[in-house]
Amino acid sequence: MNKQLEYGKLLYGGDYNPEQWLDRPDILEKDIIYMKEAHINVVSVGIFSWAVLEPREGEFQLEWLAKIIDNLYKNGIYTILATPSGARPKWLADKYPEVLRVDETGHRNFFGFRHNHCYTSPVYRKKVSKINEQLSNRLGEHPGVIMWHISNEYGGECYCPLCQEEFRSWLRKKYRTIEELNARWCTTFWSHTYQSFEQIEAPSHRGEPLMHALNLDWHRFVTDRTIDFAKAEIAAIHANGNTKPVTTNLMYNYNGMNYSKWKDILDVISWDNYPTWHKGPEAVTAMDGGMEHDKMRSIKKKPFLLMESCPSATSWQSISKLKKPGMLYAASMQAIAHGSDSVQYFQIRQSRGAAEKFHGAVIDHYGGDDSRVFQEVMEIGKDLEQIKEVQGSTTISEAAIVYDTENRWAMEDADGPRNKNLYYRECVQKSYIGLKRMGLNVDVIGMESDLSSYKLVIAPMNYMYRDGYEARVKEFVADGGTYMTTYWSGVVDECDRCFLGGTPFGLMDVLGLRSKEIDGLYDGEYNTICPVPNNTAGLKESYRVEHLCELIDVSTAEILMTYGSDFYQGTPALTCNSYKNGKAYFVAADAEQDLYLHLLQELVKKAKISNAASEPLPEGIEISIRQSEAYRYIFVENFNQQAVEVDLSAYQGTILVGTYEENTIKENGCIVFKQKR
Ligand code: GLA
Ligand code: ZN
Repeated sequence: MNKQLEYGKLLYGGDYNPEQWLDRPDILEKDIIYMKEAHINVVSVGIFSWAVLEPREGEFQLEWLAKIIDNLYKNGIYTILATPSGARPKWLADKYPEVLRVDETGHRNFFGFRHNHCYTSPVYRKKVSKINEQLSNRLGEHPGVIMWHISNEYGGECYCPLCQEEFRSWLRKKYRTIEELNARWCTTFWSHTYQSFEQIEAPSHRGEPLMHALNLDWHRFVTDRTIDFAKAEIAAIHANGNTKPVTTNLMYNYNGMNYSKWKDILDVISWDNYPTWHKGPEAVTAMDGGMEHDKMRSIKKKPFLLMESCPSATSWQSISKLKKPGMLYAASMQAIAHGSDSVQYFQIRQSRGAAEKFHGAVIDHYGGDDSRVFQEVMEIGKDLEQIKEVQGSTTISEAAIVYDTENRWAMEDADGPRNKNLYYRECVQKSYIGLKRMGLNVDVIGMESDLSSYKLVIAPMNYMYRDGYEARVKEFVADGGTYMTTYWSGVVDECDRCFLGGTPFGLMDVLGLRSKEIDGLYDGEYNTICPVPNNTAGLKESYRVEHLCELIDVSTAEILMTYGSDFYQGTPALTCNSYKNGKAYFVAADAEQDLYLHLLQELVKKAKISNAASEPLPEGIEISIRQSEAYRYIFVENFNQQAVEVDLSAYQGTILVGTYEENTIKENGCIVFKQKR
């Protein structure tokens, strides 16, 4: 699945639910007028519309939707057409209770909510295929329909007998014999040996919650099951020969599935971004969201779509904070800067009742176009038209960070050196921030990714080495790459089985060291790491470290820093080893952000990464570069709530949007420079 998208413009719009307003033609008419005013050129329709599309079993009513799509198209607005499987009609759940999910205690859910259905149930699959075929037959070839939005935010798990049986087949396929499974899962522990695959049950707090290999495989199974369900949805849509591209909207920091496995199923990656702006410093929130954009882009290493974002305040976060004027602009431009070909909102028109009636929308209950939010939405639409030529341009990154979902499952589940919080995401973010402050594009990849296109790969807390990973790292460094990894790496294999004979497994020669022990620190407890005089990384300061401190023995590595206190005072805490044509760095403890700023500045220079800033950019200033065949588009953003002076002389070109006067970028501002390549 790899269809290229060529719209010639950036997509701008959002989720639209006309089915909630079918009795108000006046409102539907106004919607179109307002959308055009706001420069909206695309809407996602049909999400959660099943009960209106098939009010009774087998009775399909698609004409209202056809009319809506026609009308949108006539008015220059494309449709991303959704399949409605995210929520099922009541008649379906009543007649076929097997479609409802079963929880880990074996209880079947009642009707209601969304994402409350079994991905295995043959009835559910059949009914979804049927409605999908109807949609495709009636509307799939409509010139206004540019893409399929498969379901909505797939997620969750089902523990029904059908899913349990599928899980056993999945395991049988993976391990072939029960002896192999027993060996890989270390089932001798606590007398858990299985005699046949039939005996295996999914993890449950009423049964087995602590067999880490079982938990890991269950997560993998849930990923595969969900993807298998999506494949069946796509097959139904394409059964009549329809070839329009497909996407599904992924979620922020979602841990229930390994998203990198969607790579080959979807034509386009899309996701929903709901940052908690103004909760802390905007510069910090921007880095967090930026990293997620990069993670999504890195799945296919292609432009993606921002499928949803909130034009105002959400209704489901603990505090529904308004975005200050200009914040929506900065957030929207950030998506494009990081490789999105769209800015889309949830939602175009605020629903009148039910769960999300107070969720922000382009058009609110008041219903006018003179609201603050509408005006800002319109301004963004204008600027997106100004930069429409960036659509389709790509992002090239010479630096990557390994942030692996399966590793996260394994690490967070394993009872280990800190069960309170390992701070994995935070550790990854420290490196991410270090690289972004150097003005770089950054790929955020999983362990299965090819490393050969990068000059610098940073792999924080790679606790689990997935099959073949260490061999690829070895080759990467041997070929001249710079690799940086940290404490709590290379500890277990894909089944969470500890490596014997020393860690980081398979890379002790590459790193020139061996880890011996790891100290978990209580909250509030800390140590320091101190520079070795005249170290080759030019590190001169001491830094605070907390949470985890690994004790290492070096063989060939140069010691750059040592611990400042405790019984391991004076022992190595940061090292660098030359291995064949490359270099491998090891950070032994969870150090404060500044270490990463200083160390990465050095590494980026040494690894000769293109387009790097000469010194870290001011906090809250972000640079991202997209490129087409002929041009480079440099996005400079200021997430600070005040203007900032910044030297951009290295980046100049024609300005497509934004202002850069007296070396200053305004608050929430975005400048897009266009340069010939
Ligand atoms: C998700 C869903 C939408 C809506 C929004 C609200 O992203 O996909 O249907 O519920 O959240 O923020
Ligand atoms: Zn099930």
